[in-house]
Amino acid sequence: MGSCCIANGSDNVHDALHEALTVTGSNALVKRVGCVGMCHQTPFLEIIAPQQPAVLYSRVRPEHVKTIVRRHFKPNGLAVCRT
Ligand code: FES
Repeated sequence: MGSCCIANGSDNVHDALHEALTVTGSNALVKRVGCVGMCHQTPFLEIIAPQQPAVLYSRVRPEHVKTIVRRHFKPNGLAVCRT
């Protein structure tokens, strides 16, 4: 969430991430970080799950977030679908 990240839309990705996690009921910890020196590839979304290799997504857009969350987190019960 450095200045370049925010300029590239990280705030919107962050909001979309919280919404996607709420919809799936996923119990994930969201950690905001500062500049990692790859501003040209932002926004980033890194998934770190126990006993799995970390996965880093770059140039993420809010419309990508639901798919990324569903790929890594199973919903707790039925998920609410919004169109
Ligand atoms: S400001 Fe976000 S990676 Fe540099």
